[in-house]
Amino acid sequence: MSTYGAPHSAAASVSGDGSRPSPSTTMPLLEVRDLWVRFRQGDRQVWAVNGLSYELFGGQTLAIIGESGSGKTVSSRALMGLLPETATVTGSARFDGEELLGLSDQEMRQHRGADLAMVFQDPTRSLNPTMRVGNQITEAIRTHLPLDRRAARERAIELLRLVRLPSPRQRFFEYPHQLSGGMRQRVMIAIALAADPKLLIADEATSSLDVTTQAQIMELLLDLQGQLGMALIMISHDLGLAASFADEVIVMYAGRAVERASTHQLFAHVRMPYTEALLEAIPRIERPSHSPLPVTPGRPPDLTTLPVGCPFEPRCSRARDTCRETSPPFEEQEPGHWWACWYPCDDGGSG
Ligand SMILES: Nc1ncnc2c1ncn2[C@@H]1O[C@H](COP(=O)(O)OP(=O)(O)O)[C@@H](O)[C@H]1O
Ligand SMILES: [Mg+2]
Repeated sequence: MSTYGAPHSAAASVSGDGSRPSPSTTMPLLEVRDLWVRFRQGDRQVWAVNGLSYELFGGQTLAIIGESGSGKTVSSRALMGLLPETATVTGSARFDGEELLGLSDQEMRQHRGADLAMVFQDPTRSLNPTMRVGNQITEAIRTHLPLDRRAARERAIELLRLVRLPSPRQRFFEYPHQLSGGMRQRVMIAIALAADPKLLIADEATSSLDVTTQAQIMELLLDLQGQLGMALIMISHDLGLAASFADEVIVMYAGRAVERASTHQLFAHVRMPYTEALLEAIPRIERPSHSPLPVTPGRPPDLTTLPVGCPFEPRCSRARDTCRETSPPFEEQEPGHWWACWYPCDDGGSG
């Protein structure tokens, strides 16, 4: 089916057939089906997420990759009920069997931070500058857990230790400006972990940090995931990051998934030309200096109209008439490997 049909709820557009072995349960922890998000903007619509489907099992790490504006943040915020009033969300997102879309604010607040939590790119903007970091963690704990002040404080210090903040007992009393960017992100992670979530969504959580700190925070997230048995969604524009950390990768373009596979399978056989372009853009130390980094010319499409054909077609070196005329379906074309392309890579170009 074409993903660019009219938005509708229910109905699965992807064969999430459960054939994948699951680490901890046979039922997905999160099951997103045909998620659409559009924003009202004056007399126009912004088609931000267009029929996204995926599932995630407990304890699994999923990387959602794509250029800026591809719908990574909006699709995740939709799950958390964190979109503005101008957004219209349709489709389904079941978490632990319960439908998240359409919950009231109050119902959603019970899940948010408790069952599923999110860490954002900029820790400076997420923290309250006038409040001691310890109290911000304690507040998050007491929102979800029936602990008195003293017990909550002990748990907060425990969490600061868990996220490996040096001297947690002293740091508890400090203000955000007294901490480095990396330490502030550790505090944000501690807040996200306050109520032991089953799923943590890290949205470009390391993008504002220097390279060394980035690696340390990534390592921390993965350690915590293993230690706490959480599922982790890592959102990034950096496909290289996914290569080193995730079990599975979804590549998004123009609000839709265009390729999905286990990390191993994806890197062994990239099918979608867009993914290949992203892969080529990863700087490699061993790349000979005479071969320049290939770029993907052009820009992501205007999201105020839905293209008839493949949204990547204007930038794609493999595009033909079919690509302009009909949008390729996102389907499981090989076991465990989904892509949306009429003329995928590695097939001799014959389609
Ligand atoms: N509140 C909003 N109103 C209108 N458009 C929005 C709003 N929030 C996001 N968008 C648009 O939705 C698209 C997807 O955004 P986003 O999910 O933030 O991208 P990503 O996280 O992949 O960089 C972008 O085109 C963005 O401009
Ligand atoms: Mg984003």
